[in-house]
Amino acid sequence: MSVIELTINDRSVRSDVESRVHLGDFLRETHHLTGTHLGCEHGVCGACTVLVDGEPVRSCITFAVACDQQKVRTIEGFDDDELMRRLRRSFSIHHGLQCGYCTPGMLITASDIVRRFPDADEARIRLELSGNLCRCTGYMGIVAAIKAVLADLKENPIADAPVARKVVSDATIAAPAFETFAAAPASAPQAAAPTAAAVSEPAGAQRKGWTAIDDSFVVPFPLDQVWTFMGDLPSVARCLPGAELLDHDGESLKGKIAIKFGPMSANFAGAARLERDDAAHRAVMRGAGQDNISRSRANGDVTYALSSEANGAQTRVAVTLEYMLQGPLAQFSRSGLVKDFVRRMIADFGARITAQLGGSDAPEASAASAASAKFNAGGLVWSVIWSRIKQLFGKRD
Ligand code: FES
Ligand code: FES
Repeated sequence: MSVIELTINDRSVRSDVESRVHLGDFLRETHHLTGTHLGCEHGVCGACTVLVDGEPVRSCITFAVACDQQKVRTIEGFDDDELMRRLRRSFSIHHGLQCGYCTPGMLITASDIVRRFPDADEARIRLELSGNLCRCTGYMGIVAAIKAVLADLKENPIADAPVARKVVSDATIAAPAFETFAAAPASAPQAAAPTAAAVSEPAGAQRKGWTAIDDSFVVPFPLDQVWTFMGDLPSVARCLPGAELLDHDGESLKGKIAIKFGPMSANFAGAARLERDDAAHRAVMRGAGQDNISRSRANGDVTYALSSEANGAQTRVAVTLEYMLQGPLAQFSRSGLVKDFVRRMIADFGARITAQLGGSDAPEASAASAASAKFNAGGLVWSVIWSRIKQLFGKRD
């Protein structure tokens, strides 16, 4: 049992809570805020969506202890919110609900969409809503309700409207790289070699709707050795458990990767192109693929830049991962837990490069088949969750 202090709907709260209790149960059972509905309890349906520090989260896969010192807002906390009042009315007018079970989560997500995308068209609304499932309405009424509120806001802005939340990036929905994926089998004619300028300007920097994660790791080997290694695609693939390189010519590649995150499994197959700037020791891998389980699509750029440290004895690899998910998996793309997961994945990748450069096999690459070794499955998820809990309680082991 731990003591946490947080704000729920502008009210300061101090509570004893078991570490394993998720936020949804904590809100409903401890604080009787039953407007937060629980559907799947697997992070899939979005019925349990609440705001934590202004960001929509799935309360069923967020531990209550992880919300210590944070601001939680449930559907009950929007009573005085003019935007939510308009959304509620519009949902009624446009038949955006039937049984109402999904509605609290839908309204919170709708409010998030309206704040972030004041010019959203129907495609954008549908994309952003893809993480909220409704078993009754067929979505037509929900989408119409949100469109009507957006149109009304142009005529009748809300005087004291809260400032729109920062949009990490800014993009159109039609991600051109999907066409690149479809048109870029390894045997296709290759694009012109990238210039240094192209490498130095990651394409994702300007794109809306993409998530960007920066991180770095240090490898205890000289820069030239690490740079050469990073250009050897089969060796790099061996450092990614679950990844399988199907075809490559040193610059373009086709491959697949199996990932398991909690209850979600994905098998992405796709194509990528590596652009390397040997002078700057900087590279960008641009890729796109599709998950054959959920039919979700992903676009991603991985940029890495090497710099020498410790008088040349070691190398820092700075990694920027930018990605956009479309389809059922899109709901996870902005989750803090997923960002932690990706950071852990990058650190794990660095450890495997170190092992390979040191002459030992990457732990899972030597196991039966990298293709069947899903990316660190539950172990990594639990290490992420455990590290969050340790952070909360003063990093005890
Ligand atoms: S109950 Fe949380 S996502 Fe379904
Ligand atoms: S209105 Fe019934 S689940 Fe959405």
